Amino acid sequence: MAAVRAEGLYKVFGRRADVAVRQLKEGASRDDVAKLGATAAVIDASFEVQPGEIFVVMGLSGSGKSTLIRMLNGLWEATDGHVYIDGMDIANISDARLRQVRKEKISMVFQHFALLPHRTVVQNAAYALDIQGVDKEERLTRAQEALELVGLRGWEDKYPSQLSGGMKQRVGLARALAAGSDIMLMDEAFSALDPLIRREMQDQLVQLQSSLNKTIIFITHDLNEAMRLGDRIAVMRDGRIVQIGTAEEVLNDPANDYVAQFVADVDRTRVLTAANVMEPAQYVVNAEAGPREAQHTMRERQASAAFAVGRRDRKLHGVVHDKDVVNAVKRGDQSIAAIIDPNVGSVHQDTYLADLFAPSAESPLPLAVIDDEKRLVGVVPRVTLLSAMASFVEVIHTGEHPPVNTGSPEDAENEPTPDEVVVVPPRGGTA
Ligand SMILES: Nc1ncnc2c1ncn2[C@@H]1O[C@H](COP(=O)(O)OP(=O)(O)O)[C@@H](O)[C@H]1O
Ligand SMILES: [Mg+2]
Repeated sequence: MAAVRAEGLYKVFGRRADVAVRQLKEGASRDDVAKLGATAAVIDASFEVQPGEIFVVMGLSGSGKSTLIRMLNGLWEATDGHVYIDGMDIANISDARLRQVRKEKISMVFQHFALLPHRTVVQNAAYALDIQGVDKEERLTRAQEALELVGLRGWEDKYPSQLSGGMKQRVGLARALAAGSDIMLMDEAFSALDPLIRREMQDQLVQLQSSLNKTIIFITHDLNEAMRLGDRIAVMRDGRIVQIGTAEEVLNDPANDYVAQFVADVDRTRVLTAANVMEPAQYVVNAEAGPREAQHTMRERQASAAFAVGRRDRKLHGVVHDKDVVNAVKRGDQSIAAIIDPNVGSVHQDTYLADLFAPSAESPLPLAVIDDEKRLVGVVPRVTLLSAMASFVEVIHTGEHPPVNTGSPEDAENEPTPDEVVVVPPRGGTA
């Protein structure tokens, strides 16, 4: 069962929201309904997030990301559609039950995480547990553990004013972790941090996730961050989800120009791997064969060199060259074992394209691509590598729209007050 499921979600702010939704369903645009005095912040969003997944929602400022995430935890009531948390439709439960679900199952981390200035780091980390009514001893133990997870051991008794921005954000993360909820919603959680600290936090989140296995919905306007974190990425534009896919799918096959623009400035050579661009190996001989068999295969294929691969296990032994094969035939050798050159350029299938250029330049043959068992799984000819690069450049230069500005951090206006983070405000009061 999906941990979180959105089904035909709409959020319309302003007047005549229901009329606006009906018109949107009949094909009206966001601009059309704006004439009614309605702002369509989220339009017909549907997706499922599986337990343990990091699902990234990416889009420019104003595209509806924060509105979407606030409907997921019931902070805002959907104008239409459904949100299911562990299969439970949160629109159709009592307010008391909703509060309980939010307290137990969901925690949130925001861009400007509001720490309580007069409480220590450990008290801040324990804050959600405080609200949950967990007793003091357990509260502090769990907060302590969470602080350790985010690398803040030894800082328990400091005050927020003594921390750097990155450390404050870690306290926010610790607070969410201490709460022990399975679902974490993170709205631009790292966006206010300096690039290096931000990168560090991303790595840490991925690392934490590998042991904690939370369900994380992470919002960002930064594609590189989305690529680094997301098992899958949903791209939002003007209230609509325009594409959902893995980083690779979004890069390789952008659903439209908007997505293409977004992905244009990503360094794909650090996202795509050898396995993504490799081709079947053409020139392969059986490593256990005799030289006549090898010669025959190579003649047929007009190859001057070939990979020698185990017949059964497909393991890469090395490479044989035509003149050595000819000499071995002349000598009457029984096997090609002695003429296999083990110094063959090979790379693991998970190697990033960026790291293929040097070995490719050194190797006269196509680069051999191997798996964990050292089996030959494909080759990357130099021309493939170059054309893979060229097609990236093409995407960058063919976009018709002016480049989108992805750099602007969001204004803090829409960020919730500290109370909103853990104390439940009235539902649906904002529309
Ligand atoms: N409380 C609100 N009242 C009216 N309009 C809102 C409100 N919150 C957000 N909006 C509008 O909804 C749209 C989406 O906003 P938001 O979800 O904050 O986008 P993002 O998080 O992607 O920047 C914007 O046009 C924004 O102005
Ligand atoms: Mg936002």
